[in-house]
Amino acid sequence: MKEPILLGIESSCDETAAAVIRGRKILSDEIASSAQVQAKYGGVVPEIASRLHTDAIDDVVSRALRTANVKKEELDAVAVTYGAGLLGALLVGLSFGKALSYALHIPLIGVNHIRGHLAAAYLEDEELKPPFVTLLASGGHTAILYTRTETEFEVLGGTLDDAAGEAFDKVARILGLPYPGGPHVEALAREGKPCIPMPQMLKGAGGYSFSYSGLKTYVINYVHTMSQRGEVWSRADVAASFQSAALDILVKKVVEAAKEKGADTVTAGGGVIANGYLREKLTEACRENGLRLVLPAKKRCTDNAAMIASEGLIQYRAGNFSPLTLNAAASIPLK
Ligand SMILES: Nc1ncnc2c1ncn2[C@@H]1O[C@H](COP(=O)(O)OP(=O)(O)O)[C@@H](O)[C@H]1O
Ligand SMILES: [Mg+2]
Repeated sequence: MKEPILLGIESSCDETAAAVIRGRKILSDEIASSAQVQAKYGGVVPEIASRLHTDAIDDVVSRALRTANVKKEELDAVAVTYGAGLLGALLVGLSFGKALSYALHIPLIGVNHIRGHLAAAYLEDEELKPPFVTLLASGGHTAILYTRTETEFEVLGGTLDDAAGEAFDKVARILGLPYPGGPHVEALAREGKPCIPMPQMLKGAGGYSFSYSGLKTYVINYVHTMSQRGEVWSRADVAASFQSAALDILVKKVVEAAKEKGADTVTAGGGVIANGYLREKLTEACRENGLRLVLPAKKRCTDNAAMIASEGLIQYRAGNFSPLTLNAAASIPLK
C-alpha cells in the first residue's frame, strides 16, 4: 500500500515551521524561529510574531517541499495547527494551509497543537503502537495521559496551576536569564548542586496531579530574601535545586501511571522534554522498571511541524478532515 505524503504547518507561537512526511518517515523538517527577536522583549509579542510568520511562511513551506524532494501536486493532505496559540499567529499558518488544500484539491486537517506534541513519539519509533502512557510537559500543559488507540486517550492527571515550562520561564526571569527560560535554567543547573531544600509538591498525594505555583513562589521568595539580607547565594544551586524539584516528580508519577495501567511503554512530548536532566532521569527510571521509553529527538519536543504532520496522519487514516471554514482557536481543551 502506498504511504500517504503529508505536509505539516505550525505557526502557533514564535516558530514558523513546515515538514513533509511519507507515512511516519520524516522527509523534511524546516523551521524559522523568531525567538531571538522576541528575546529582546522578554517574551513573545503577538503582533510581532504574526508579522514574522507572514514574512517567513512561503519560504519555509517551499524549503520543506524542496528538501523532501516532493512536488506540491504529490501531497495527499495538508495538516495545520488551528489552536491553541496566538490567534494572529495561528491564522497565518491556517490560511496558508487552507489555500493549499483548496488549490490542490487535497484534504485540510486542522490539528490541535498539544495532540501534535503527543504524536511526536510516533516519528521517533515507526513501530510504536498504543497502549502507552505519556508524559506531556510544555509551556502551557503538564499532564500524564493514557493512550488506548491512536485516536483515543484519557487524561490521568495534570497541573492544578502553572505548567512545568511556565515555571522554568518564571524562574529564569528571577535568575536574570533570557527568554525562553528552560534551556538557560538547564545550562546554569549543570554548574550547581541540588542542595537547597525545595517544597515537595504533591509528592505522595494528588494522584497524577501537579502543582508548580508553590515551587515557583518559593524560588522567588528565596532569591528576594537572600538578596535583601545581603547573603551569599548561588544562582547555579538555585537552578539545580529547582530543576530537580520540578522534574523528579514527573518521572516518579509517569512510572507509577505506567504500572497502574499495566502499560509496558512510556512516551513523552512537549518543550520541557528537551531537558537533558529529565531525559536522563526518565531513561534511568524506565530501565529500572522494565519499561520501554520512546523519547522524541530534542528538536521534536519543542514546537515543530513534523509532529503536526504526524498527528495529521492519524486523523487522515481515521478520515477526519476539516472544512475550509475552520477557524483558529486561542485555546482548545486537551480532550
Ligand atoms: N531544556 C529545557 N528545559 C526545561 N524547559 C524547557 C527546555 N527547553 C524548552 N523548555 C520549555 O518548554 C516550553 C516551550 O515548550 P513548547 O512545547 O513549545 O510549549 P507550548 O507548546 O506550550 O507553547 C517553554 O516553557 C520552555 O522554557
Ligand atoms: Mg508547543
